Formats: sequence, C-alpha cells, structure tokens
Amino acid sequence: MNLSKLILLFHLFLLVSLPSVVMARWIEDTVVMPSEATGPVAFSHYTHLEVLGKNCPTCHNAIFNIEPTKNPAFTMADMEKGKSCGACHNGTKAFAVKDSKGCSNCHPTRDIFFENDGGTVLFSHKVHTAAFSCGECHPAIFIPIQGKKAAVTMTQMEKGTSCGACHDGGAAFTVKENCEVCHQM
Ligand code: HEC
Ligand code: HEC
Ligand code: HEC
Ligand code: HEC
Ligand code: HEC
Ligand code: HEC
Repeated sequence: MNLSKLILLFHLFLLVSLPSVVMARWIEDTVVMPSEATGPVAFSHYTHLEVLGKNCPTCHNAIFNIEPTKNPAFTMADMEKGKSCGACHNGTKAFAVKDSKGCSNCHPTRDIFFENDGGTVLFSHKVHTAAFSCGECHPAIFIPIQGKKAAVTMTQMEKGTSCGACHDGGAAFTVKENCEVCHQM
C-alpha cells in the first residue's frame, strides 16, 4: 500500500467516525432560550446527552428544530400537553414542568424591584423561596411574567392582595406598619 492510499484511507476513516465521536463535543453546551416573559431559560446539551445517550435525533428535529429561529415560542400550557421540554418533562421520563417545586430547575429567580411613591421596595426571591415553593405565589398571587407588575396600592395590600396575602400580621409582619422594612426611604 503506498502513501497516498494510506492518506485516502485515513480521510475515509475520519469521515465515517468523526461525526458521532466529535460532534457531541463540538456543539455548544448551553443554549439560551430567550423567554421574554420569565427571562432567559438555559438548556444544557451535555447534561442531556449524558442521560439520554449521544443521540441527536431524540430531539432534532422531532421536538426542536436545530435552527432556533424555526421553533415557535411555546407556553407552559403547551409543555403540559407534551410539546417542547414537556415531551419528556412530564413526571415520567423527567421531572414534570407542572410541578410547582420544579420551576426553578429551569427558571432562575432574581431580585425584583418595585419603584413607587413610598420608596423603592426590594422583593427577594431568595429569602422567600427558603420558606415557600413557587406555586404558593405563582400564578395566584403574582403572575410570573416580566414587566407585568400590576400596580397595587397599600390599601389593596391591607385587604390581602399582593404582599398583603401574607404580610398581614399573621403569616408575616403586617403592611400596616413596618414601612421601612420594605421601603428604602
Ligand atoms: C434533549 C434534547 C436535545 C438533544 C438530545 C440535542 N439537542 Fe440540540 N438543541 C436542543 C434545544 C432545546 C435547542 C434550542 C432550541 C431553541 O433555541 O429553540 C437545541 C439547539 C441546537 C443547536 C442550535 C444552537 C444555536 O444556538 O444555534 C444545534 C447546532 C444543536 N442543538 C445540535 C445538537 C446536536 C449535534 C445534538 C446531538 C449530539 C443535539 N443537538 C442533541 C435540544 C437537544
Ligand atoms: C423543564 C424546564 C421548565 C420547567 C420545569 C418550567 N418551565 Fe417555564 N418555561 C420553560 C421554557 C424553555 C420556556 C420558554 C419556552 C419558549 O419560549 O419556547 C418557559 C416559559 C415559561 C413562561 C412564559 C410562557 C407562558 O407559559 O406564559 C412562564 C410564565 C413560565 N415558563 C412559568 C413556569 C412556572 C410557573 C413553572 C413551574 C410550575 C415552570 N415555568 C416550569 C421551561 C420550563
Ligand atoms: C428527550 C427528553 C428531554 C427533553 C426534550 C428535555 N429534557 Fe431536560 N431532562 C431529561 C432527562 C431524562 C433529565 C434527567 C432526569 C431528571 O432530572 O428528571 C433531564 C434533566 C433536566 C434538567 C436538570 C439537569 C440540569 O441540566 O441541570 C434541566 C434543568 C432540564 N432537563 C431542562 C430542560 C429544558 C429547559 C428543556 C427544554 C428546552 C428540556 N430539559 C428538554 C430529558 C429531556
Ligand atoms: C413569596 C412569593 C413568591 C414566591 C414563593 C416566588 N415568587 Fe417569583 N415573583 C414574586 C414576585 C412578587 C414577583 C414580581 C411580580 C411582578 O412583577 O408583579 C415575581 C416574579 C417572578 C418571575 C418574573 C420574572 C422576573 O424576574 O421579573 C419569575 C420567572 C418568577 N417569579 C419565578 C419564580 C420561581 C421559579 C419561584 C420558585 C423557585 C418563585 N418565583 C417563587 C413572588 C414570588
Ligand atoms: C406567601 C407569603 C408571602 C408573600 C406573598 C410575601 N411575603 Fe415577604 N415574607 C414572608 C414571610 C413568612 C417572611 C418571614 C417572616 C417575617 O419576617 O415575618 C417574609 C419576609 C419578608 C421580608 C424580610 C426579609 C428579610 O430580608 O429578612 C421582606 C422585606 C418581605 N418579606 C417583603 C415582601 C414583599 C415586598 C412582598 C410582595 C412583593 C412579599 N414580601 C410577599 C411571606 C410572604
Ligand atoms: C411587605 C412589604 C411592604 C410593607 C411593610 C409596606 N409596603 Fe408600601 N409598598 C410595597 C410594595 C411592593 C409596593 C408597590 C406595589 C406595586 O407597585 O404593585 C408598595 C407601594 C407603596 C406606595 C405607593 C402605592 C400607594 O399605596 O399609594 C406607598 C405610598 C407605600 N407603599 C407606602 C407604605 C407605607 C407608608 C407603609 C407603612 C405603613 C408601607 N408602604 C408598608 C411593600 C410594602
């Protein structure tokens, strides 16, 4: 066998074997899905390929088109019906999208600032999620959609809406006093 034949064979070998071996390493690990409503959701290829096997067609293009622009924006209601992440995250193959304790697996939380006449209020997810699960506030008390803050007055809060659902002197300190605990004045 001469040298040029060897080189040819080597290239054939590369063509056949590389895609499956190397592709899984060369793809972007984290894909960020820009959800306007909640803030970005990160999806990790590596974690998924590890549990599911390095099998791209499991998701492409049956569940997700490989070109992000070709995927419509799905709602959580679509997912509960088995679309998008919900094809597996249904409580059988993987943790369920509708489990209110599981939202933060996919949706990172952040500090929320309310600007108003009483002075800025910081709502800390971190402090509250130490004691409450997502579903105790979302969506009954607060719709978890960015920029959809319904302006609520202190009078409404005193009657039990918004923060007042808990800050009533029972479950937590009351909104009728303690102004400076919430408001930076
Ligand atoms: C568990 C499901 C799943 C598997 C398996 C999977 N992907 Fe993906 N892939 C996704 C999701 C989700 C997206 C993001 C789609 C979106 O943004 O709409 C994505 C996006 C992509 C993109 C586009 C990235 C970008 O930012 O343009 C490429 C390329 C890609 N995947 C390649 C692969 C390859 C190659 C494999 C196999 C080694 C693979 N994927 C396996 C779920 C998967
Ligand atoms: C397995 C991951 C996953 C879990 C768990 C999950 N979500 Fe989502 N969610 C997503 C992704 C991804 C999007 C963006 C989808 C898109 O744009 O196609 C999204 C979008 C949303 C949206 C905007 C679309 C809509 O339905 O109005 C809301 C609100 C939301 N999620 C709330 C929640 C809440 C509340 C929970 C817990 C009960 C939850 N999500 C659990 C992945 C998840
Ligand atoms: C083909 C099936 C499948 C699809 C589609 C899928 N997942 Fe998963 N996912 C799994 C399995 C299996 C696990 C591991 C088992 C578990 O944690 O319940 C997992 C675990 C996870 C985890 C925990 C591990 C980690 O990476 O931190 C997150 C977060 C996650 N998935 C997010 C998503 C999001 C967001 C989507 C949609 C964009 C999605 N998954 C779509 C099957 C899938
Ligand atoms: C004690 C109540 C409470 C709990 C518990 C809670 N949240 Fe929130 N959340 C809020 C408030 C208040 C807002 C701001 C509401 C508004 O904008 O009107 C908010 C807003 C959000 C938003 C909107 C996006 C943004 O950053 O502006 C997302 C996403 C969200 N929460 C996710 C979660 C997840 C995931 C959990 C569980 C890990 C959780 N929340 C638990 C009260 C809560
Ligand atoms: C589901 C019930 C619940 C809701 C809704 C809720 N809180 Fe709380 N919050 C608590 C509890 C319980 C504590 C801790 C007990 C206490 O200090 O009385 C707390 C503590 C706090 C603290 C003190 C935290 C610290 O740093 O020590 C602040 C500030 C606060 N909440 C602000 C808010 C604001 C602002 C809202 C509305 C946007 C809100 N909370 C909605 C239950 C709630
Ligand atoms: C549990 C936290 C909390 C406490 C305690 C609290 N506030 Fe507020 N307050 C808020 C939040 C959050 C908003 C903004 C609500 C919105 O935009 O939806 C607000 C809004 C306001 C506003 C503008 C809306 C309106 O009602 O005119 C004023 C003024 C105000 N607060 C004054 C006070 C005073 C005075 C006290 C003490 C008697 C107080 N607040 C106690 C959280 C609190």
